Amino acid sequence: MKTTAVILAAGQGTRMHSDLPKVLHSALGRPMIQYVLDAVAPVSGEKPVLVVGHKANEVKHALQDRVHYAHQAEQLGTGHAVQQAESLLKGHTDLVLVLYADMPLIRAETLKSLVKAQQNHPGPFTMLTVTVDDPRGFGRIIRNAAGEVQAIVEEAQATPGQLAVKELNAGVYCFSSAWLWGAINRIELSPKGEYYLTDLVEIAVSDGMNVNTISTDEPSELIGVNTRVHLAEITKIIQQRINQKWMLSGVTIADPAATYIEPEVTIAPDTIILPNTHLQGGTQIGTKCVIGPNTIVRDSQIGNHCEIKASVVENAVLEDHVDIGPFGHLRKGAHLAEGVHMGNFGEVKEAYLGPGTKMGHFSYIGNTTTGESVNIGAGTITCNYDGAQKHHTQIGNKVFLGSDTMLVAPVSLGDEAQTGAGAVVTKDVSAKTVVVGAPARPILKAEKVEDV
Ligand code: UD1
Ligand code: CA
Repeated sequence: MKTTAVILAAGQGTRMHSDLPKVLHSALGRPMIQYVLDAVAPVSGEKPVLVVGHKANEVKHALQDRVHYAHQAEQLGTGHAVQQAESLLKGHTDLVLVLYADMPLIRAETLKSLVKAQQNHPGPFTMLTVTVDDPRGFGRIIRNAAGEVQAIVEEAQATPGQLAVKELNAGVYCFSSAWLWGAINRIELSPKGEYYLTDLVEIAVSDGMNVNTISTDEPSELIGVNTRVHLAEITKIIQQRINQKWMLSGVTIADPAATYIEPEVTIAPDTIILPNTHLQGGTQIGTKCVIGPNTIVRDSQIGNHCEIKASVVENAVLEDHVDIGPFGHLRKGAHLAEGVHMGNFGEVKEAYLGPGTKMGHFSYIGNTTTGESVNIGAGTITCNYDGAQKHHTQIGNKVFLGSDTMLVAPVSLGDEAQTGAGAVVTKDVSAKTVVVGAPARPILKAEKVEDV
């Protein structure tokens, strides 16, 4: 049966106190609506309909054509919100799955069970409920003596007896489309001036129809985000879910509460993640690495057996057996080949460091390609920017750069060239040649100054 989701996101989100639409607030690097879209995708092959209203343009700008949009100009309640999808869906789908965009913990498995239950149910709809010890905020499920659902009563309208009911309406429903659109137009205005979607229960019951329910035993999946306190709560839970998944697949996480792994990151088994580490974006980490403590890795590929201590790695590639830090900074286009060692206070950008290259202390290497086994002495700087343009530095195999070498680009150094401490290299250096001084000039091998 064709199932299409209608996701409600027109509400104002007043209590976020934000210029950003509520559903675009992020938990672990992605907007909360994205989690909902991800949960819906395995359940429905159809593009979902997102009901937008408040700050619709910002939401559309963020999601582009990933969803169809239905407009709810005035927020007249959940029933009215779903009604806005009628013209898009009537006659085009068998089932309509309704849920909220501010409920990012909802799981695909739960939505699947709900849809499956409605596929096997002859009545007009199935809804998700949850039973909790301390019911608060949600609509109460009212059943008759036979256990059949009779109504959903909103907390504000509930009698003390109804308030004590522990079975709650999650706000997630699967409707028969053939029934829904006729019934939704029969919802009457509530005393609060809203059209409640929940009134569909009484409409079905008064027509002699049976409303079906399924329940989830994980109340946390129904947390709706209304404030930034809720946002922090759901972020913690997402963090726990992700960390648990990696630990169960063989990754050691020394302190899960202080480890922040975004949903798209991948990590191979036997890697160890130390506290206060943030793994972000599309980062991929190989096996037997030690990452952290105090490290950020964003959109980077880390090979096997790498160590990254107290460093920031962005848009970079590390091959196997690379070690960095403490206090290294790899920026866009940094590529460290196998066995590269980068010690403290180094920065690499748009540069390839060949296999076995060592860069121990206080260096900046940008717009550079090095050969293998280059020694980059303490304080070496590529002067790659002339105020207008970036220029390239080319360094051959086994080049030895003395401490405090300035490489004024564009410049190239042949294989096994050497520079003395403090050399300011302004001209190309031939292979096996030693240069010293400022500006650097070649000297005979016999005069070679030892690097200090
Ligand atoms: C709703 C249910 C309640 C249920 C609870 C679960 C109704 C009348 N009540 O209450 O039984 O227990 O959800 O969370 O449905 N929205 C719109 N347009 C509107 C109104 C709401 O798009 O005109 C969206 C909001 O952005 C929000 C969602 O619908 O994402 C829920 O609306 P909200 O007002 O929070 O409903 P509740 O009062 O929580
Ligand atoms: Ca709510």
